[in-house]
Amino acid sequence: MPDVTTLLSERLSAAVVNAFGDAYADADPLLSRAANPKFGDYQANLAMGLAKRVGAPPRDVAAKIVEQLDVEGVCDDVQIAGPGFINLTLTPAFLAEQVTTLANDDRLGVERAESPQTVVVDYSSPNVAKEMHVGHLRSTIIGDAIARVLESLGHKVIRQNHLGDWGTQFGMLIEHLIDLGFDDGSQHSIADLNELYQAAKKKDDADAAFAERARQRVVKLQGGDEATLALWRSLIDESKRHFNAVYQRLGVGLSDDDVAGESFYNDRLADVVGDLDSADCLKESQGARVVFPEGFNDRDGNPLPMIVQKSDGGFLYATTDLAAARFRIDDLHADRVVYVTDARQRDHFAMLFATLKQVGWAAGDRVSLEHVPFGMVLGPDKKPYKTREGGTVRLVDLLDEAEQRAADVIAKKGTDLDDAQRSAVARAVGIGALKYADLSNDRVKDYVFDWERMLAFEGNTAPYLQNAYVRIRSIFRKAASQGVGVSRVDHAAIQLEESAERSVALALLQFGQVVPAVASSLEPHRLCTYLYDLASAYHKFYEACPVLTAPDAATRDSRLRLSALTADVLRQGLELLGIDVVEQM
Ligand code: ARG
Repeated sequence: MPDVTTLLSERLSAAVVNAFGDAYADADPLLSRAANPKFGDYQANLAMGLAKRVGAPPRDVAAKIVEQLDVEGVCDDVQIAGPGFINLTLTPAFLAEQVTTLANDDRLGVERAESPQTVVVDYSSPNVAKEMHVGHLRSTIIGDAIARVLESLGHKVIRQNHLGDWGTQFGMLIEHLIDLGFDDGSQHSIADLNELYQAAKKKDDADAAFAERARQRVVKLQGGDEATLALWRSLIDESKRHFNAVYQRLGVGLSDDDVAGESFYNDRLADVVGDLDSADCLKESQGARVVFPEGFNDRDGNPLPMIVQKSDGGFLYATTDLAAARFRIDDLHADRVVYVTDARQRDHFAMLFATLKQVGWAAGDRVSLEHVPFGMVLGPDKKPYKTREGGTVRLVDLLDEAEQRAADVIAKKGTDLDDAQRSAVARAVGIGALKYADLSNDRVKDYVFDWERMLAFEGNTAPYLQNAYVRIRSIFRKAASQGVGVSRVDHAAIQLEESAERSVALALLQFGQVVPAVASSLEPHRLCTYLYDLASAYHKFYEACPVLTAPDAATRDSRLRLSALTADVLRQGLELLGIDVVEQM
């Protein structure tokens, strides 16, 4: 479906060429939605930049462009304002035609990617035998939204849960399990993985004999001792059960099939180091084997090493990531690999990508490697979010609290839902609010975790958006009770006379650009901002333009159709963020 922005941009570019010649074909029209409806629907800001190149005052440049601009049947008003802004107002008929096309489009204006890619999204990736905490929440939620958006555009998304399921800590964990009587590897359930880890750690610190046993155990684990491996596997299975329960409650689409943990790459690590050596990329540094990726220096200008093998022969996080990247590129045939982790791992990934390029495994433009960093979740004191006692916040507790608080908020609203409906709504609203609070912030920034704000029905929140959807659904329930059927509305002629109607229409038309923009920038908050703007425009429309009591049936049906389309875009947009809508609340 041709979109308005593209159309106007093309017309503007043609006008520039006509006015100033072919040399100006590359000039970006700098077109955007007008900040204020008073100044029209769109504005083009190119005249100011062109002025110098052309050698004329910006307003004159704008005038020359407008003179050549062919927007017959598209705009009925073109104005030059301020230093040289070109303000464009669409004709009501053209706008209505665009919205009608959108309403008839199953994809709501979001076109499939022209060349679908295979995209690996590495996200969540918690550590085995440790309960997921609030820090894992962000990767899980952001990664899932990114995966959904990419998939919706027709890309092949391969989710990879890079579980931390290997390392020396398993020595103490397994030894501790044996002490607890898990010696045959048969299934016992572990109530609290955090407790297990902490107890093992405590023993390891306090009891030298235990620490020695733990060390021996690591050797056995690495040597492939069957009994040890069985216990190790039971820890992984148990952890996965915990993770899956969280994923399910969060509505996150990760399953066991998506797990390729660190241990998966064990038998590829020696090759990684061997091949780095053959490619002449390895150096010795204090007994360890390291790579010096080009362009990474410490403060004193000394090259920074990425260690791939310790002096005792052990491999590291970076070695595993090199193996994983190779697997993703060569075996999974990824065109793009996206890593969703906290910003503190920025240097790790920068050095990893540089090494992959240097050694040729990610040569040229064969694959795009992208780190998607995010900031921290902070408490009201602006310090990393903790429990009142200063401990890490368990994810399960957070989910419980979200649902409980949402239930309270809904109870206060005094709706007439039965118990089952109420708990379903509490779930959608509570979990939705939690996810949205995370997604709606520019991800690289830290954000302050604030229950009241995220559950508010006003502001850029999930409940606000869900409520806009509910409002529309309730109009339709009422319409049905008055005998106005949806099938009739589906064919209603769209008329856009009121400025509030235009604002909704213009917002709806943007959905098709927003989704691909999120796919390229990997910034879900852009979709949140968009949905919030749409819901706000709809809210104003609802206040200004009576729907069921519109002056005549044609206006009523047009408004109903605009409402239905808004509901569709809200539902689909929230779905891409992994947030459910509800019919009533
Ligand atoms: N397990 C790691 C952590 O908790 C995250 C892994 C991210 N993925 C990767 N390929 N390194 O910090």
